[in-house]
Amino acid sequence: MTIQRAEIESTIFTVVDELLETIESDYEEDVDGNMMLIADGGFSSIDFVQMTVMIESELKRKVGYQDMLMQNGRYVDDLSVGAVVDFTLERLNAPEGSQSAAPAQQAKAHASESGTSSRVSEDDLAAFTQLVRPRHVQPTNAPRNKRAVFILSPPRSGSTLLRVMMAGNSSLLAPPELHLLSYPTLADRHADLNKEHVSHLLDGTVRALMQTRDWSAEQARALIEDCKNQGMSTHEFFGVLQEGIGDKLLVDKTPTYAFSLDILRQAEACFDNPLYVHLTRHPCGMIRSYTESNLPRMMPMMMRASEFSTEAVAEITWLLTNRNILQFGETVPSDRWLPLSYEHIVSQPEQAMRTLCEFMDVDYEPDMIDPYRDSQSRMTDGVDSSSKMSGDLKFHLHSQIDPAAATRWKQFMSEDQLGEPTLELASRLRQGEASGRF
Ligand code: A3P
Repeated sequence: MTIQRAEIESTIFTVVDELLETIESDYEEDVDGNMMLIADGGFSSIDFVQMTVMIESELKRKVGYQDMLMQNGRYVDDLSVGAVVDFTLERLNAPEGSQSAAPAQQAKAHASESGTSSRVSEDDLAAFTQLVRPRHVQPTNAPRNKRAVFILSPPRSGSTLLRVMMAGNSSLLAPPELHLLSYPTLADRHADLNKEHVSHLLDGTVRALMQTRDWSAEQARALIEDCKNQGMSTHEFFGVLQEGIGDKLLVDKTPTYAFSLDILRQAEACFDNPLYVHLTRHPCGMIRSYTESNLPRMMPMMMRASEFSTEAVAEITWLLTNRNILQFGETVPSDRWLPLSYEHIVSQPEQAMRTLCEFMDVDYEPDMIDPYRDSQSRMTDGVDSSSKMSGDLKFHLHSQIDPAAATRWKQFMSEDQLGEPTLELASRLRQGEASGRF
């Protein structure tokens, strides 16, 4: 049956409207086919991805927007809403199996190159560190919770993909980012995250409870609210999450933990012999990914107003977080520490997952390398609506583990753009992965 234009237009116009509100766009007219998403609506490239995830979720089927959004590894320059409607109709009405790449007519290569040579120095790192709000998390007197697994990495290192792969193992519970360890109490966490642009980071705990207790989002939120009002520490709340999961290991992947040594140390204080996966990625891959993501928008104002370019902030973030992780790792026995790279995971997924399972002492399960299977049990769907997903939106742009994503940065960047401290650490990390310890 042919799908009618009016039907698709209505879905897409509603999604765009909802997004304009979320990003607080200045666009005041009604959405129509002529509206340009970047020039008129103020979209960023990651908003394109968000839009496609929302449309697919409304349509309850994959459209394959990768071919519309990316050409030769670059995001399109701008798109009209009409072009999105055209592409969608063409795809949905194409006979089964004939869906070749059909890029939208208006799609042009991204104009702005990120060729800025940041060459980040130790002085830059020191200046940036002054801007990072110091975190002091006090250990509590509560008994240690049972073992958990932490994925420690800078942001944009493939941590969502790894978490979803781990969620495919029946011995693990790997929910979206929990954002617990960074705060002494649930009330502190709520006060910090219940704000514009970041409130979706509160959803990981909601999603975890929905999964383990077979609850609605409302029921899960009510329990968290109750715990918060009792003055519960995040240490104790981790224990609540672990209730009812039997022998399953809880996996926490929250990249912001690595901004502070204090936060990392909290893992040792709250858990009995926790395990750590140090997830690494080539700095250029992480920098390129960071600049294309919505993270610059989520950065605290003082960092956005600083003299550093987005590329420099990304490189310093890579350096700072990896250094913190390594320094913390020196205090952890080697049998509880595993270095693993994003490049290894996407190029040899089965081997990487087998190594990881052996490290965690759980059986390898083939579903781990099929991360797009069963989005509900993998917790890759949103809690209430697809507009509020935590973790990596680009996960949804892929439809399988994509080894090419690991080297895409080479089209835009070269290692010459990196500062000495970054190059040195990258080389140390490469050697460390080869030997099993940094
Ligand atoms: P790029 O932006 O370079 O594409 P994180 O989850 O830590 O934020 O990491 C995001 C990175 O993981 C993104 O890198 C994203 O594309 C990549 N990623 C997500 N799903 C993937 C998949 N199926 N195959 C390969 N890379 C994937």
